[in-house]
Amino acid sequence: MLKIAIIGYGKMGHEIEAIALDRGHSIVLKIDASNQPDLSESNLKNVDVAIEFTSPHTAKQNVELCLSAGTPVVCGTTGWNDEAAKIIERVKAGEGTFFFASNYSVGVNIFFKLNAMASKLLAKVGGYNVGIQETHHTQKLDAPSGTAISIANAITAENPNLNGWTLVSDKVDGKIPIEAVREGTVPGTHIVNFESEQDQIVLSHIAKSRRGFAIGAVLAAEFIAGKKGFYNMDNLLNFD
Ligand SMILES: NC(=O)c1ccc[n+]([C@@H]2O[C@H](COP(=O)([O-])OP(=O)(O)OC[C@H]3O[C@@H](n4cnc5c(N)ncnc54)[C@H](OP(=O)(O)O)[C@@H]3O)[C@@H](O)[C@H]2O)c1
Repeated sequence: MLKIAIIGYGKMGHEIEAIALDRGHSIVLKIDASNQPDLSESNLKNVDVAIEFTSPHTAKQNVELCLSAGTPVVCGTTGWNDEAAKIIERVKAGEGTFFFASNYSVGVNIFFKLNAMASKLLAKVGGYNVGIQETHHTQKLDAPSGTAISIANAITAENPNLNGWTLVSDKVDGKIPIEAVREGTVPGTHIVNFESEQDQIVLSHIAKSRRGFAIGAVLAAEFIAGKKGFYNMDNLLNFD
């Protein structure tokens, strides 16, 4: 049983609380925009693992505070990849314990691998263009989604003719166009379209709710408790 801090008590924070309690953990600290000063090193001393789902503007500061308090931290906040990458380097060099994933759903992490596999095969035969469409609820702050960026990275890693991604409006040769759609209460839909002159291969992942993300985040907390270093979903799911 873990003593967990929830940093960001919004849509994901509430889901994570329910899953953590179901799995026998206790929530000893809950931080929201309204009680930020309670996120102190002294309060974190009583915490086994912190789970951070806030916003792209606040994640860096929250994660750094956990690291300096020596509290392992699981972070799911998207839209701050460049700063997260610097923290990951520091953690790999010996500072604290950090788990970071653009998407904690087991199904999405399988979807990353399916896209990588398709990309590898299609790069061999040639003639296919690739595009990604992601749809999320209207309150989402970042675009494109961190998951769409991870899908694009998985695809480009397997095709030497591709070099990163761009928003569909900016269209750049060699970069995967990503269309970000914001509508209703959609928890997360990702559609990848591989298209040639002759045919079309479409891979899609549709999250039915936020529960799958919350389960993955709590599993990640259980996984890093008592460990040092940087971890991601490949480590948790034994995909490496
Ligand atoms: N990796 C994944 O699997 C995954 C899955 C779903 C979502 N996400 C990401 O997780 C993040 C949160 O998503 P969400 O849907 O839960 O958003 P949300 O409902 O807006 O919740 C964010 C919460 O963080 C609070 N907050 C803001 N600043 C804070 C601070 N400095 N310290 C502590 N709490 C603070 C907000 O409070 P106020 O409302 O009072 O501002 C809000 O309650 C987003 O970046 C989203 O893209 C990731």
